[in-house]
Amino acid sequence: MMIWKDILQAMPESVSQHATLNEALKTLNASAQKIIFVTAEEAVIGYLDSESLLRQIERHGLDAQIRYNTDILKVPCDNRVEFYHNVSIVLGVDSGGGQVGFTTFEEARNRITQLQLHQKNQIFHSSGIGLITTDSQFRITFINERAETILGLTRNFLLHRNYKKLLALDVLEEVLQGRQLVNVTSSLNFKQMIGNFSPLQESGNIQGIVHIFYLRQQLEQEIQELELVRNLNDDIKAIYSSSNEEILVMNGHGRIMRLAGTYLQEFWMYEHPDMLIGKHLGELQKEGFFRQNILDICKGQRGKHVFIQENTRGRKVWSVATPVFRGELLEKIVIISRDITEINQLKEELETVKKKSDRYKQELDKILHKTQHEKKLIYRSKVMENLENLIKQIARVDSTVLLYGQSGVGKEVFAQTIHAYSPRSQQPLVRVNCGAIPENLIESEFFGYEKGAFTGADRNGKPGLFELADKGSIFLDEITEMPLNLQVKLLRVLQEREVTRIGGVKSRKIDVRVIAATNREIKKMVEENKFREDLYYRLNVIPIHIPALRDRVEDIISLSIAFMQQYNAAYQREKTLTREALDVLESYHWPGNVRELQNVLERLIVTTQEDGIKGEDVMAILYGETREKKIKPIISSIVPLKEAVDEVEGQLIRFALQKYGTAAKAAEILGVSQATMSRKIKQLLP
Ligand SMILES: Nc1ncnc2c1ncn2[C@@H]1O[C@H](COP(=O)(O)OP(=O)(O)OP(=O)(O)O)[C@@H](O)[C@H]1O
Ligand SMILES: [Mg+2]
Repeated sequence: MMIWKDILQAMPESVSQHATLNEALKTLNASAQKIIFVTAEEAVIGYLDSESLLRQIERHGLDAQIRYNTDILKVPCDNRVEFYHNVSIVLGVDSGGGQVGFTTFEEARNRITQLQLHQKNQIFHSSGIGLITTDSQFRITFINERAETILGLTRNFLLHRNYKKLLALDVLEEVLQGRQLVNVTSSLNFKQMIGNFSPLQESGNIQGIVHIFYLRQQLEQEIQELELVRNLNDDIKAIYSSSNEEILVMNGHGRIMRLAGTYLQEFWMYEHPDMLIGKHLGELQKEGFFRQNILDICKGQRGKHVFIQENTRGRKVWSVATPVFRGELLEKIVIISRDITEINQLKEELETVKKKSDRYKQELDKILHKTQHEKKLIYRSKVMENLENLIKQIARVDSTVLLYGQSGVGKEVFAQTIHAYSPRSQQPLVRVNCGAIPENLIESEFFGYEKGAFTGADRNGKPGLFELADKGSIFLDEITEMPLNLQVKLLRVLQEREVTRIGGVKSRKIDVRVIAATNREIKKMVEENKFREDLYYRLNVIPIHIPALRDRVEDIISLSIAFMQQYNAAYQREKTLTREALDVLESYHWPGNVRELQNVLERLIVTTQEDGIKGEDVMAILYGETREKKIKPIISSIVPLKEAVDEVEGQLIRFALQKYGTAAKAAEILGVSQATMSRKIKQLLP
């Protein structure tokens, strides 16, 4: 924009309105300007130029009074330059009304054209466009600075030269006919240009040509850069569209600008993604999307925001919104979303599958249990035969059984056998080791809990062991290990035959057969107040004492052979027990009862070298290298005393010889003379 001040000239000399033509002429001659002002009381009221002054002098002579022109306009000098009709002179005044300068309109026009030309040239220059004009003879009339730089030639060199010849382009003739040539490649001074030739018209006639051009190399470079950006853009688009996620870009006001990646059609329910573009967050919120106000959240806090959206049809989407700030201003929000409805469904399905597999596992356990139940009691002794008969009988009724016996005598096998013989055999037998459950969990394990009963509890609540054993049997192993306070609760369950879950109000009826077991002297514990008497009587309805293995020696061989067969099958061996080995097994006192026997047999099958298991093999396992204890001879049938004594004597001598190697040492240990020893050894030899 141009203002008057930029083009005003200094104020000219002035004469009074009453001056003569002579006075005016003198003033004009003394002045540097071509006009003088006419004033009345210091204020400009008109002007006189040399032409009009000379005309007046010619007509009226020097002494006549001046006549002056009044087409003067006063303008504030800071105003924009404008042109008016019927005005030849502009007088610029400042804000106080003081005269700053003047200009004729004609000069003003020239100045403006000049300034505009200068500006245009600058634009051409900075835009990197070269500009050359010629006259109708193709003589160069104008060259901008950019053209000089592009061509590497100076203005002085180029001006007035024939451009058509320099470029060797005959087609330029056609431009003079009015044709425009577009995207023409031309060269000068080894520089390649690309540009347009147009006719230069002035008042309807073609006066010459204008050539507007770029340096070709530069243009190509720019095109290449453009191509690069386009490729990059294509790549990014390809990446977006191969993504499984939806990428949504919102402007800082919450309007959706762009959408890429996978369009979540089932979530938005709009047929085409374009239908989302331009929508405002507010609208979408009204339609039920975006429960939270993302815009406010993103404005308030930088960094990522994660949230889950759900549409009216229950379709769920997991989103991460990232606000992009420019300075303090929220410029846009990028939201990346993924449909998680399927994942949720999968989760649910997984849960049902898990429940199912839990059920299968229970079934499997049941089957396993059953095969274990079917594992028959092995015995040969009369005591055991009687016990099995007793079991068969009591199995038919629901009376509570209390099994007594040392560790490893087979209390669990008995419990399983009772259950197997009972009408409940198709229902679960739940085994609880009262000593193995942590004290703080016993109650919830036994009675179960309702949902939310305590922190850390399963969300859906859990049935207790009694509920699980409903219609079946429950085996309370190591019953004496149950804490006293729980003994009360157990007593109540046994009396009332119903349980209430922890945190629950409703009690559930249960139909369960109770079998308890202990290897401790429970009666003594009652006397010492370590076990509740009332519970003891509740449990001790049918007491069954299982004798220790050493009190039923007849069972040892049966059990040994049964276990041998079992482990031979398990380890694919074909071992047999020699008579000698069986003798050693029979003679041992078995503090660990059947379990110990079972373990010894497993070791024998696995560790012995030869197929026939010898007495020594058994002894090595039972007594090891240091046998301090005296063996107790076991008498299982009546033999003549002499024979029995000989047998014992023989065994003793063999042990001693085996262990100490020499007859002398064996004699010393056995407390006999060396002579006696050697005599006895001789007798032993076949
Ligand atoms: N009469 C039997 N016939 C076959 N196997 C038996 C017999 N008695 C015990 N067993 C076996 O001996 C092992 C120990 O038996 P069980 O676990 O029943 O003893 P327990 O009295 O419960 O011992 P604890 O008091 O240590 O729990 C088990 O492997 C069991 O199968
Ligand atoms: Mg047991």
